[in-house]
Amino acid sequence: MLLLGSASMMIRREEKADQEASRAIQVEAFRQSETEEPIEANLLDSLRDCDGWIPELSWVAEVDGAVVGHAICTRGHVDDVPCVGLGPIGVAPDLQRKGVGSSIMHALIGASDAMGEPLIALLGDPSYYSRFGFVASAELGIEPPEAAWGVYFQVRPLTAWSASITGQFRYAAPFDELD
Ligand SMILES: CC(C)(COP(=O)(O)OP(=O)(O)OC[C@H]1O[C@@H](n2cnc3c(N)ncnc32)[C@H](O)[C@@H]1OP(=O)(O)O)[C@@H](O)C(=O)NCCC(=O)NCCS
Repeated sequence: MLLLGSASMMIRREEKADQEASRAIQVEAFRQSETEEPIEANLLDSLRDCDGWIPELSWVAEVDGAVVGHAICTRGHVDDVPCVGLGPIGVAPDLQRKGVGSSIMHALIGASDAMGEPLIALLGDPSYYSRFGFVASAELGIEPPEAAWGVYFQVRPLTAWSASITGQFRYAAPFDELD
């Protein structure tokens, strides 16, 4: 449910001018220490620089003209089949649980479907992402990049999905440099 009172929200593609603000949102969303940036900050920088970045699917949420949410998508593969890897996604801590993240998710799912992508993959809590139609990747015969991720690695099949798309999922290269 959208709980933003009289504020107006807009979901749109990230532009170059938004990059500093959207990075700051991701840092605040994932921050676990006062002094250190979360790993998602460097990951975001590397994803924007890599060949797999999908700028058409990298979006911000604005509330009353300020960037308060952000999500980036990059090119993933199930074996040789291209698909979308979503994340990180983050919402400003003081605006979490007000529907901003859900709005970004619905918009990205619709846009990915319209672009003919077969599926979106992400790592996250099933209690949140199941509401958008994500299921454990193993249910569709797709192996997570790390076996230990189990049910936390999820996929959302889209119109162009086919049951023949099975095998090992690979994220864009910067995800491999996280270890
Ligand atoms: C996860 C996140 C993007 C969701 O955005 P949001 O705007 O807070 O979420 P929404 O308001 O659209 O949805 C709220 C619902 O999601 C649930 N939810 C939010 N974050 C959740 C999480 N990390 N795990 C499980 N459920 C979560 C809330 O309980 C709420 O459920 P309810 O409607 O049943 O009460 C945001 O909370 C965030 O930035 N979290 C910190 C960074 C993070 O964990 N990113 C995701 C990593 S996969």
